[in-house]
Amino acid sequence: MNNLYKKHCLKIKDLTKHEINQIINLAEVIKKARNKKQEIKYLKNKKIALIFEQESTRTRCSFEVAAFEQGAQVTYLGAGNTHLGYKESISDTMQVLNRLYNGIGYRGIHHNNIKILSHYSKIPIWNALTKKYHPTQLLADLLTIKENTINKSVSEITLAYVGDASNNIANTLLELALIIGFKLHLVAPKEYWPKSDVIQKMYKTNKKKFLCTENIKEGVKKADFIYTDVWVSMGDKKNEWDKKINLLKKYQINQKLLSYTKNYNIQVLHCLPALHDQNTIIGKKCSTLYNLPDGIEITNEIFQSHKKIIFNQSENKLHTIKALMILTLKKNIDYISTKQTNI
Ligand code: CP
Ligand code: NVA
Repeated sequence: MNNLYKKHCLKIKDLTKHEINQIINLAEVIKKARNKKQEIKYLKNKKIALIFEQESTRTRCSFEVAAFEQGAQVTYLGAGNTHLGYKESISDTMQVLNRLYNGIGYRGIHHNNIKILSHYSKIPIWNALTKKYHPTQLLADLLTIKENTINKSVSEITLAYVGDASNNIANTLLELALIIGFKLHLVAPKEYWPKSDVIQKMYKTNKKKFLCTENIKEGVKKADFIYTDVWVSMGDKKNEWDKKINLLKKYQINQKLLSYTKNYNIQVLHCLPALHDQNTIIGKKCSTLYNLPDGIEITNEIFQSHKKIIFNQSENKLHTIKALMILTLKKNIDYISTKQTNI
C-alpha cells in the first residue's frame, strides 16, 4: 500500500519510518536501473512546478533531471518570476497552479510560506529547503549513510553533526534521528544550539541516543559519521557573520577534530556547497577576514579525502527526489527489487 500518494513533504516528520523506507528502497531500485539504462518512466504526462525563491545547484537540478528522466515536464519559476506574495496572494496563485500541475517543489526562506502553500494546495508540495528544514537533503543523506554502513544497521550508527546546530540541516537531522533511531550528537557553541524545548524533548524521548554539547572531544568520540554544513546559511543576516564565524571557528572539520573520533574509518558528510578552499568569492573573503587559510567549515585536506561520499550525497538527491515524486504522484506502482533491506 502506498500511503505516500498525494502526501506533502514539508519536513521529515511528515513521513513515517515505513514511508521513509519506501522512498529509500525505491531510490535504490531506480538508481540501479538507471545505471543499467533500464529505468522505468513512472511520471509520464505529469507536470511539475519548481518555485525557487533562493539559489540552488543540486536540489533544483535533481528535481529537473528526476522529472525529465521519469517522463514529466517541468516549469522553473525563479525569484521574481511570479507574482507570488507580491501582487498575488499564495492562495490565489495556488488556485491557478492546482489546475495546471501535479506537484510543486518549493525553496524559500520562510517555512511559513510553504505551510500556506500546502494549505491551499490540492497537489503534493515538496520542500526543497526552507530556513527551518531541508527534508529532500536528508533523504539523500540517509540513502548515502545506508550505502556506507557496514556490519551494523543505520539505527545503530552514531552521527555527530558539528557546526551551526540551529540551522535547517540540524533541525531535520533531529527529526530523522528520532524516526530512524540512530544516535545523534550535536556539537556546537551554545549560541548555535537548537531551541531549548527541542533539546529537552530529544533528551526526554531519546536519552541514550542524543547529546548536545559544546565539547568537541566528547561530541565526536566514537562517531561513525561526522556531518557539517556551511556556517552561514541562506537567509542569515549579514551582521551575524562575524559573531557566527568567530564562535564556530574551533568547530572546523580538520585532521585534529577527526582524530578525536578515535575511528580510523570515520566518514565525513557535507550537504554542499562547501567552503573548503579559496576558489570561491566567499571562501576567499572569509579565509582572509577570519584567518582561515585552509578552509572554512572544513579544511581542503579533509574535503578532498572524503569527497567521494560527499558527492555521492549530491547524486543521491536525484534518486531520492525521484522516488519521493513517484510515490507521492502515483497511487500504485509496481517495482521489482531483488534485495530490499529496511533501515
Ligand atoms: N545541498 C543543497 O541543497 O544544495 P543546493 O543549494 O545546491 O541545492
Ligand atoms: N544550511 C544551508 C544548507 C544549504 C544546502 C543553507 O540553508 O544555506
